[in-house]
Amino acid sequence: MQAQCQSPCAGRDAVKNAVHMSTRRILVTSALPYANGHIHIGHLVEYLQTDIWTRFQKLRGHHCIYMCADDTHGTAIMIRARQEGCSEEDLIAAMSTAHQQDFADFHIAFDHYGSTNSVANQACCQAIWTALRRADMIREREIERLFDPQAGTFLADRFVTGTCPRCAAPDQYGDSCDKCGATYAPTDLVDPRSTLTGASPELRSARHLFVEIERLHAWLEDWTTSGDHLQREIANYLSGHFLHEPLRDWDVSRPAPYFGFEIPDAPGNYWYVWFDAPIGYMAATQEWCQAQGEDFDRWWRDSNTEIHHFIGKDITYFHTLFWPAMLKVAGFTTPTRVQIHGFLTVNGEKMSKSKGTFVTARTYLDHLDPNYLRYYYASKLGSKVDDIDLNLEEFAAKVNSDLVGKLVNLASRTARFVTDTGLAASYPDDGGLFAAAAAAGEEIAGLYERCEFSQVCRRIMALADAANEYVERQAPWTLRKDPARQEELIAVCSVALNLFRQLMVYLAPVLPRLASAVGELLGRPITCWDDAQTPINGTAVAPFQHLVTRVDPAKVQAMITTSQQEASEAPTTRVAASSTATPTNDRGIHTTKIMDPQDPIAEQIDYERFSAVDLRVAAIRMAEVIPEARKLLKLTLDLGDHGQRTVFAGIKEAYDPASLIGRLVVCVANLAPRTMRFGTSEGMILAAGPGGDQLWLLAPDSGAKPGMRIA
Ligand code: 2FM
Ligand code: ZN
Repeated sequence: MQAQCQSPCAGRDAVKNAVHMSTRRILVTSALPYANGHIHIGHLVEYLQTDIWTRFQKLRGHHCIYMCADDTHGTAIMIRARQEGCSEEDLIAAMSTAHQQDFADFHIAFDHYGSTNSVANQACCQAIWTALRRADMIREREIERLFDPQAGTFLADRFVTGTCPRCAAPDQYGDSCDKCGATYAPTDLVDPRSTLTGASPELRSARHLFVEIERLHAWLEDWTTSGDHLQREIANYLSGHFLHEPLRDWDVSRPAPYFGFEIPDAPGNYWYVWFDAPIGYMAATQEWCQAQGEDFDRWWRDSNTEIHHFIGKDITYFHTLFWPAMLKVAGFTTPTRVQIHGFLTVNGEKMSKSKGTFVTARTYLDHLDPNYLRYYYASKLGSKVDDIDLNLEEFAAKVNSDLVGKLVNLASRTARFVTDTGLAASYPDDGGLFAAAAAAGEEIAGLYERCEFSQVCRRIMALADAANEYVERQAPWTLRKDPARQEELIAVCSVALNLFRQLMVYLAPVLPRLASAVGELLGRPITCWDDAQTPINGTAVAPFQHLVTRVDPAKVQAMITTSQQEASEAPTTRVAASSTATPTNDRGIHTTKIMDPQDPIAEQIDYERFSAVDLRVAAIRMAEVIPEARKLLKLTLDLGDHGQRTVFAGIKEAYDPASLIGRLVVCVANLAPRTMRFGTSEGMILAAGPGGDQLWLLAPDSGAKPGMRIA
C-alpha cells in the first residue's frame, strides 16, 4: 500500500486530518524499559529498529504514532528504592528523565513517553481485569513460593540463585541454568540464596490469582499461525513449546509487599508487573489521545488500526500469548504484528562488564556520534530473530566507508563549488542516474516495510557508488580551475548534490538529523518519501559544514575503558533481566581489580593523573561481618596521622574477618565517600583477582607504617 505524500508544509494536523484512502493508521511500540536500570547499547537495538520503522511510515505519509513508557513496577524497584533510601516514585521519576534524555540524544522520537505507574495505566488495567472477571477467567489458588525472611518479601525467580539441579553449576538463577540451559522452578535449586540479602529463602504459601489462558487456546493457535502476525520461526517455537499442550494458568498477582497497583477486588494483592506492563502501551496512547484530542477507541478498538509491537526474543511469550489473549477477551484490537529481534553481542560475545563491552547509552554518547550507531545497527538488522553482532572494528570501517566515504563525500566534494551560485536552474543531463535511483524508491520502501534494513543500506550504498563514479568521471575539482567551464561545474555539482539529497531521503528514517542538515544545506527540507522522485533546482546552497566525521578509534577505545571503569565502581544491585540486557554477575564492589587477566590493560594515563590518586598504607583494626551482605565486610582502617576510615570491601567470600585484624593494606585515601546500603564507605582497598573467593589483598612489606603515602 502506498501513501500519498504530504506537501512540504503539511504539519502534524494536516497529517492527522488527511483522508487519503491509502493512509494507514499505525500504532507502534517498543518494549517498555525497566525503571531500575539505565539504557545500554543492547536495548538500543530495539529502540533504533522501532524508531527507524516508525520514521519510515511517517515519511510515507501514514498516520503513525510511536508509544513507549517506563516499566516501573515489581520487586526490583521496591528493593532498589529501599537500598537507596528513597521512595519508589522518586526512583522512577529520576530514571524516566534519564531514559528520555538518552533516547532523545539517540534521535529516538516517541510521540508519547509514559509510565506504567500512572492513573491512565491503572484505569486500563482495571478495564482488562473487569473483562477477565466477566469472562470468568480468574482463578484463585494457594501456592508455595520462596520468601526472603530478611527482606520480608517473596522472591521473583531472578532474585534467587543456587546450584543447578541438573548439572550442578553454581550461581545459577532461579529460572534457568546458563551452563546447561535447564529450566526449572526456583524451589528446585540446590542451596538457594536470595540475591537481595544472601539469606537462604524459605518456602511460604500465599494466595495468588491466575488467568485461565487455556480458554483462548484455539484462538491463539489460529492467531499465531495466520495473518503474518509473527515471524515464522516464532510461530513454530510457540507451537512446539507452548501450544502443543494445554496452556498453564498465568499467575498475575503478587502478595504485599509489592510495588504496583493493588487489585481492587483482592485487597493485599497486586497485579504482577508483567500484567500491567503491556497495558502501559494502551495507557501511553490514552495520555497521548488526551493531549492531542484524539479518540482512544480509534487506536485500540478499531480493526482499521494497525498495532505493531517491537520486542526482544526473551519476552516472546508475554507478547504473543498472554497479551493478545487479554486484548481479545477485553474486546481490544489484537496486534497486527509482533516483530521480534535477537540479542546484541559485542565482538562476537555476550556484553561483558569486565571487558568494557557493557556500554550504557550515556557512555556511548560521551564518546561517539549517535549517527554511527544508528547507521551501523540499521546495516546489520534484518527481519529475522537472529542475534546481531556489534564488531567494533567493522563498526568503524563501515561508518567510515559508507557514511563518510560514499555518502557525505558526494556533498563534501561538490557543495563548496556552488555556494555562491546555488543549484542549476534546471536539472542537467545526468545520464539517467537520478531516474534510476528514483525508480528504486518502491523497492527500498518495501524493504523498510519488511524490516530488512540491512538490505536497505546495501541498496542505497550501491546507488551511492554509482553517484560517486559520476563525480569521479566529471572531476569538478578540475572544472573549477577552468573559467570557461563554470556552467559545467555548476551542472555537475547540481547533479551530485541532487543524487546526494535523493539518497538522504531514503536514509532519512535511519539518519533523521543528517536529513535535516541536508535540507538546510540545499535550501529545501526533506519532508516525504516522494521527495526522492523529483530533483530540486535553483535553490541556494549554504556553506558546507562537516556532516559526519570519521570514527576515531581512540574514542572507541576510550568508551570501552570508561565502561570498564564504571563496571568496577558499580554497586552490586542486581538488575532484573530485561528484553535486551545481559544478566551479569557483578563482583567486588569497592575493591579495585588491578590485575584481572581477562581484562585488557586500560588506556595510558600520564603521571599527573596517576599521582592524583592518594594511595596510603592502612592497618585493618576491625573487620565486621554484615549478615545481610553477601560480599561485603565492614572494615575500620587506621591511616596513622590521617585518622580512621570505614570502608566496605567486597572481600567477604575471600577472607575470614578475624584473619584480617592487624594486616596492612593499600587504601585509596582520597576517593569521594560513597553511600551504600549499609553505611558510607570512605575509601577503597586494593586487591587483585576476578572476585568472589578469588581475591588477594595487596599489602606493603613489613616496616611500612599506617598513613604512609604510596608512590
Ligand atoms: O523485558 C523488559 O525489559 C520489560 N520491561 C519489557 C516490558 S514490555 C511491555 F510489556 F511492557
Ligand atoms: Zn545446569
